Amino acid sequence: MIIAIDGPAASGKGTLGKRIAEHYRLAYLDTGSLYRAVARDVLGQGHDPADPATALASAKALDASTLGDPALRAPGLGEAASLVASFPEVRQALLAYQRAFARPRPGAVLDGRDIGTVICPDAQVKLFVTATPEERARRRYRELTQAGIPISEAEVLADIRRRDERDRSRAAAPLRQAADAYLLDTTNLDIDAAFTAAIDMIDTAMGRAGHAS
Ligand code: DC
Repeated sequence: MIIAIDGPAASGKGTLGKRIAEHYRLAYLDTGSLYRAVARDVLGQGHDPADPATALASAKALDASTLGDPALRAPGLGEAASLVASFPEVRQALLAYQRAFARPRPGAVLDGRDIGTVICPDAQVKLFVTATPEERARRRYRELTQAGIPISEAEVLADIRRRDERDRSRAAAPLRQAADAYLLDTTNLDIDAAFTAAIDMIDTAMGRAGHAS
């Protein structure tokens, strides 16, 4: 079974994705880490993430064993990742890795922006996880300050709005809800409530597909 989870930055899809994968004993891939790793490599070589040629070279040379690097979560990398992710050739270079990750049995949970629409359009279950920009900024701000990263909530909100706008309006695989995705608005839900709601949706979808969950 493949579970596709899409949504904007800091919507809770990563935390949910991990818990859902544990619950169903599936592999889990945070596809944002691919774009973040490309951005890290571009910046690390002193290049500009707005330059498609260097972004493509880094995407082609990406070492997947570095995807768990905690440095990938640094706030500045989100913006650079959104920039490199806007290039169709970069997305194309990362496509095969994501599809190959999803393929082996018993399946996988992938989260990102275009999983239900482009990477795994045949996923058995699709969730679109969202929350208001203000609530997402509050959550991300809390995480960053707890991790000792000095930043203001206003800066976090501005970053979220900028990335939302770029991720939604780009021509290549823009962020959008797939027609057959369940919408999960977590604005007023804590993580346990969001997880319960997600499991209900997934079990309902699997029941409809004629599988036991
Ligand atoms: O989910 P995240 O914040 O770690 O993602 C960082 C950026 O990567 C995000 O702003 C857009 C891009 N991204 C994407 O375009 N497609 C994906 N499947 C995942 C992330």
